[in-house]
Amino acid sequence: MAGFIAPGTHSGCIMYASEFDIDEQTTYLNHGSFGPSPRCVREARQQWTERLERQPMRFFCREMEEHLETSAAALGKFLKAKPSRLALVDNATVGMNIAAASVELQPGDEVLLTDHEYGAVRNIWQERCRAAGARVVTVALPAPLQDDTVVTAVEAAINDNTRVLVMSHVTSPTAAILPVQALCQLARKQGVITAIDGPHAVAMLDVDLDGLGCDFYCASCHKWLCGSFGTGFLYVHPRHHHKVRCPIVSWGGSISGRPAAWQDRLNWLGTRDPAGQLALPTAIDFMQQGALSEFRRHAHELICGVRRRLLQLEGVGVFCTATENDVVSMCAVELPQPDNWEPGYHGHPDPLQVELRDEYGIETPVASWNGCRFLRVSAHLYNTPSDMDRLLEALSAARHLR
Ligand SMILES: Cc1ncc(COP(=O)(O)O)c(C=O)c1O
Repeated sequence: MAGFIAPGTHSGCIMYASEFDIDEQTTYLNHGSFGPSPRCVREARQQWTERLERQPMRFFCREMEEHLETSAAALGKFLKAKPSRLALVDNATVGMNIAAASVELQPGDEVLLTDHEYGAVRNIWQERCRAAGARVVTVALPAPLQDDTVVTAVEAAINDNTRVLVMSHVTSPTAAILPVQALCQLARKQGVITAIDGPHAVAMLDVDLDGLGCDFYCASCHKWLCGSFGTGFLYVHPRHHHKVRCPIVSWGGSISGRPAAWQDRLNWLGTRDPAGQLALPTAIDFMQQGALSEFRRHAHELICGVRRRLLQLEGVGVFCTATENDVVSMCAVELPQPDNWEPGYHGHPDPLQVELRDEYGIETPVASWNGCRFLRVSAHLYNTPSDMDRLLEALSAARHLR
């Protein structure tokens, strides 16, 4: 498979930025929701699909399983996880559904979520609790978020009925990094299972999955890692392997006839093209051949710069993250609430988001969380200081900012 061949010398992120083909009419500041992949990854994916199309029987029945294991091994090395603990799934949503289905819950049990959790993740656990007669409990984390006060708040919310603690590694609405390692230690001491929602942490942070001590960790690779869309993973600690249940029931055994493994229930969810998963090692190679450190340096510089300028706008304030050390490649700031403001919701974005998109070609989310209105900005290798200038100029002129 073709990989990304890094030239011997390069001029920072310009070389990496040329790997992306972002629409020239768009200022794309939402890598945090949907992260486009570099050309080398798109080409590798295409080549895998072509290989499948040439001889589907050979590919699906005799080759695919081994190639998926190669991808899981590359991912495991990148995330410091034994590959035997990883299953490749389509995205974090699928991973979290499988985690929820694999946990035993009885009537009266509680699943504790922080108030910064992603809406779909909240829905998954609400549905799981409804089916089991259990209930979701929400712990409000004190703002601005600080590791010690977060741990104290979660500790106070755990009681004898708490069975599972669900937390983001990096939160979606508030773009904050949570102290997941300390929270896992706390939960383990109390006999509480941990399910971490990690799509923003992969590549944004150094992730040490085996070292975290969590029970389940779900993530998508089509965010900061720049994997193909429709790629993610589920990490399961061995103490739960025998309990893994997939809401999609299929054959459940090895396709190539190798000894059974817990991932067999997840590898074959009916016939589908695994090309994105098989191109994951190319995304990891791309990152490891220099792009990762350049991405973190460049994105942090852009995000700190834009955050400083946003905070100078009238009515714009700090939102959950107190300092520049608390953000890497994504930040959120609180916006003023116009008279008669109503929180936007799925499919009905805030008028400012629509104005930025339709009148300035800027894609960035404006949404609501806990009664606050916020703007979230993401930066990756292809973003430039001019992108941030365009956002600031648009906001200065926007009708719907306040
Ligand atoms: C914190 C968090 N969890 C889960 C998800 C769901 O990711 P996916 O749609 O790739 O399953 C997202 C998506 O933005 C997210 O931000």
